[in-house]
Amino acid sequence: MPSAPASAPVRIRRADSSDLDDLVRLEQCAFDGDRMSRAQYRRHLASDSARILLASAGRYDFLGSVVLFFRRRSTLARVYSLATRPEARGRGIGAALLAAAAAAARRRGCRALRLEVRTDNAAAIGLYERLGYRRFGSYAHYYQDGTDAWRYEQVLD
Ligand SMILES: CC(C)(COP(=O)(O)OP(=O)(O)OC[C@H]1O[C@@H](n2cnc3c(N)ncnc32)[C@H](O)[C@@H]1OP(=O)(O)O)[C@@H](O)C(=O)NCCC(=O)NCCS
Repeated sequence: MPSAPASAPVRIRRADSSDLDDLVRLEQCAFDGDRMSRAQYRRHLASDSARILLASAGRYDFLGSVVLFFRRRSTLARVYSLATRPEARGRGIGAALLAAAAAAARRRGCRALRLEVRTDNAAAIGLYERLGYRRFGSYAHYYQDGTDAWRYEQVLD
């Protein structure tokens, strides 16, 4: 895999079915368990209640992804998954994906973004708190290995 550029601006685009292989590959290297399957990604790519956004920078086309869910008659959107390729982390890609997710949720009339995160995921928690997400609850034994989840919310302007 190529290493990501250190300072090229991050671009965001909507994923389509041609991105399926890259999405599944990223899922496998970013998560040890609780992974989304290829069939789930295929379904979400075709669904109006999901939005998958991808980040690229410089000549690197696929550096990270965010999966966003909407529900009919709900003004809460859910960030279901966020991942940056390991060699591209710490360069603002996660933050750019979350900003794009917030913009997409606003366009759908949502008033807040919510997500769950493993209580031992320091990098993700650090990013969410830096971006103004507020912890408002938890789920015990939420993940397959028994780890608890923190629940976070970002109110959208
Ligand atoms: C969480 C993740 C998406 C962040 O992506 P990223 O592209 O590196 O994010 P950014 O570069 O925008 O921000 C990195 C931020 O992570 C935080 N961070 C990174 N390592 C950290 C650590 N060890 N402790 C605390 N915070 C940390 C910091 O807030 C950092 O911000 P800074 O650069 O201002 O210090 C990435 O680490 C990842 O893909 N992890 C594996 C999948 C995952 O855990 N996803 C989230 C749960 S669904």
